[in-house]
Amino acid sequence: MAEPSVPSTVEQSLAGLSMNDKTTTRVDEEPARTQNAEIASAGTANEQPTFVDVGIAARDLLPGRSKHVQVQDRQVAIFRTHAGALHALDHLCYHMGSPLASGDIEDIGGHACVICPWHKYVIALDTGEGFYKKIDPYAAKGSPPELCSKGVRQRVHHVRVGKGDKLEVALSISKEPLASDHYHQAFAQGMERMKQAGLSVSSGVVVAGGLPGGSRAGS
Ligand code: FES
Repeated sequence: MAEPSVPSTVEQSLAGLSMNDKTTTRVDEEPARTQNAEIASAGTANEQPTFVDVGIAARDLLPGRSKHVQVQDRQVAIFRTHAGALHALDHLCYHMGSPLASGDIEDIGGHACVICPWHKYVIALDTGEGFYKKIDPYAAKGSPPELCSKGVRQRVHHVRVGKGDKLEVALSISKEPLASDHYHQAFAQGMERMKQAGLSVSSGVVVAGGLPGGSRAGS
């Protein structure tokens, strides 16, 4: 698949998306789905997400910064917004798998978002929705573009500050498939193939919560 051209600004990216996307809603039309809602709707204790210490002190994640961690076999990016809120999403972008922890955090229409470092897609940190701005060519001159949602594309996980000021992450337990699952699976399969070939399988980050199958790397 040919790689799309790289827009030079976020606004160009947002405007360009509006020409192609047909399955969108205005942001104020779609209720936000939050990670807390998943926890609240879980039934028994067995269905609750399980938090694990990811080895990072909460005080070391400053506002406007992010960290890449691995929880079991999943690559996760933890963000702290400029206002201080914590969010966790799949680390690999739903579009083409870029590392979202390298993206800037910006306020887009009142929503804290990460700007993908490769093609500048805009992803809401609290819901994982892909955002774009729709420009109406028939609107009055000077009218601001309309912020729209493509729906949830990036999987959102749970993050909290645990004992001893340590950040804890719980993977989402939702079975609903999302676009970002593709790059999680591709990355995990690539790591598994390297392991079977006897090559190093380190992703460069500490593994928290143990790998599926029982082994555990790092602390
Ligand atoms: S990889 Fe293309 S926008 Fe993220």
